[in-house]
Amino acid sequence: MCGLIGYNGSEQAAGFIFTGLKKLKYRGHDSAGLATLDGDRLQYKKDAGKLEEVERRQHISQLPGHIGIGHVRWATHGIVNRTNAHPQLDQCSNIAVVHNGIVENAFELRRRLETAHSFVSTTDTEVIPFLIAQYYNRKGNMLAAISNAIEELHGPFAFLAICRYTKDKFFACAREMPLLLSCIPTGCIASSDANSLPDDCNQAYVLDNGEIAEVTAQNLIFYDRAGNPIEKQPETLMRQIGAIYTNSTEHYMMREIREQPYAIEQSIGQNVVDMQDAARAIKEAQNVIFTACGTSRHAALMGRYLFSRVGKRMSEVIIGSEFKYFSEVISWNSVVIAISQSGETADVLDGVRTARARNAKVISIVNHSTSQLARLSNFVFPLKCGTENAVAATKSYMAQITVLALLSHYLSGHQHDIIQKIKALVPLVELVYETNLKHAESLARNIAKHNVCYFIARGSNFHIAMEAALKMKEVSYIHSEGMPAGELKHGTLALIEKGTPVVAICPDDYTFNDTLYNIEEAKIRGAFIIGVSDKYHSVFDEWFKIPKVEEILYPFVAIVPLQELAYFTALARGVNPDSPRNLAKSVTVR
Ligand code: F6R
Repeated sequence: MCGLIGYNGSEQAAGFIFTGLKKLKYRGHDSAGLATLDGDRLQYKKDAGKLEEVERRQHISQLPGHIGIGHVRWATHGIVNRTNAHPQLDQCSNIAVVHNGIVENAFELRRRLETAHSFVSTTDTEVIPFLIAQYYNRKGNMLAAISNAIEELHGPFAFLAICRYTKDKFFACAREMPLLLSCIPTGCIASSDANSLPDDCNQAYVLDNGEIAEVTAQNLIFYDRAGNPIEKQPETLMRQIGAIYTNSTEHYMMREIREQPYAIEQSIGQNVVDMQDAARAIKEAQNVIFTACGTSRHAALMGRYLFSRVGKRMSEVIIGSEFKYFSEVISWNSVVIAISQSGETADVLDGVRTARARNAKVISIVNHSTSQLARLSNFVFPLKCGTENAVAATKSYMAQITVLALLSHYLSGHQHDIIQKIKALVPLVELVYETNLKHAESLARNIAKHNVCYFIARGSNFHIAMEAALKMKEVSYIHSEGMPAGELKHGTLALIEKGTPVVAICPDDYTFNDTLYNIEEAKIRGAFIIGVSDKYHSVFDEWFKIPKVEEILYPFVAIVPLQELAYFTALARGVNPDSPRNLAKSVTVR
């Protein structure tokens, strides 16, 4: 969840790193800091707060020197304050470390190290510079010290380290956490995220399994976790397609909602042979299990529906963090389909590793093709929707359901039909965006006055209700629940009062009439009904009109006004929808 950048080269390191850190802000952060080497002087500055606030107070971008490491923190261990911000240093301030991940045995390590040293922070990270320093003092060699130190760390990590005694380089090391390295004309860089690499950087080396890199101004030297030299091949980065709408004053969330037709167009273009092979594997498997979290899980729910309805294949959806509790049913004859925008969600990766260990086939639907998830998969279907900066997922969701629609039609052998239908859908998604925008903005002012909001739907539209509720709660902080419309009367109806907003997604499909009964039940108890449908009904107090499309395509059009509603409700409540409190874009901790 934290972001890391290191630089060694001819430019002033702190300025270069600061620019890169700005591109990592979208991941969510609560503190920032930087350390540089200026000759044999190790200097650092850090503070709690957003990157710009930290810069205003501490001028971190002004630190001197040509070697440096920087960090934006999203707290997991230890409260948000200056002491807990990174870099963390060893007791003598000779070694500085910035870190992403969790040291799962930090408590035990601290207890052991505390007998000789005093810790200042309450982070798990601080044990890393302490451990490295301990080994460095014995061996006088940073590479060996890092290699020894990581043998003691439990859990996934990526970190960068500088040491005032090795003044011409910094070190990078990673296990099960993203860390990319690349050489550019002015030097060499390391980063936790391809987005922060310069635009013309198309290739990167990816560290894993505790591999270590020595990063000099001219080159990168790689070692395995034991410190033996190794050769590594660079990988081609999926260059993130820049936002096609460049109005920089606009929130990312709104820009990304608007980019959805484009996301659909891009994601429908998948490798035909891979699709055929994946479809064959799915058909032949004993069981097919989707795993994902949050919005990606809602896409997986749509996948389950499409597989059954179109592909005539039953499947199951298991939340990433719960996957390991079902591991007994996974075998070589299982297919696990992992869906993730980032490809770095720890809960999803845990499940996928469990599946791999039991020899299951893994198919991933992922935006970042250099991610851990992509690397663990037998088949990778990239979302190709470009960088998603807003914390709330919108266009990645649209791309996910596009890929799932395609894959389900490969199961049925009717892939050509769906490609044509999806292409025809693109202008309708544009239309539904345009026609509901103003309405969503005005309605949001009403919704913003409430503390709860319910979203109901039936059948394949149910996951839309879940997704719309998630969007609403995460950006507006209004408690929102999505549920099958038929469930309302089994409990939630007790909470309906005069004016309670109930959003009913009821396109004119096989769910329409049944959903109307449930709407009536809520309406007569005072609910304020917002219908999302291609067919008007007098029970609606407000109506988001969506275009008439084939049944399985309704989710593509029905979600758009509800994303807009969530966005405008956030604005009406004075919340910045791009960076909701307590949330991070990429959830790399369990
Ligand atoms: C919600 C949202 C999160 C993510 C979830 C999984 O808008 O963005 O719920 O969907 O954290 O993230 P990925 O898809 O990166 O695995």
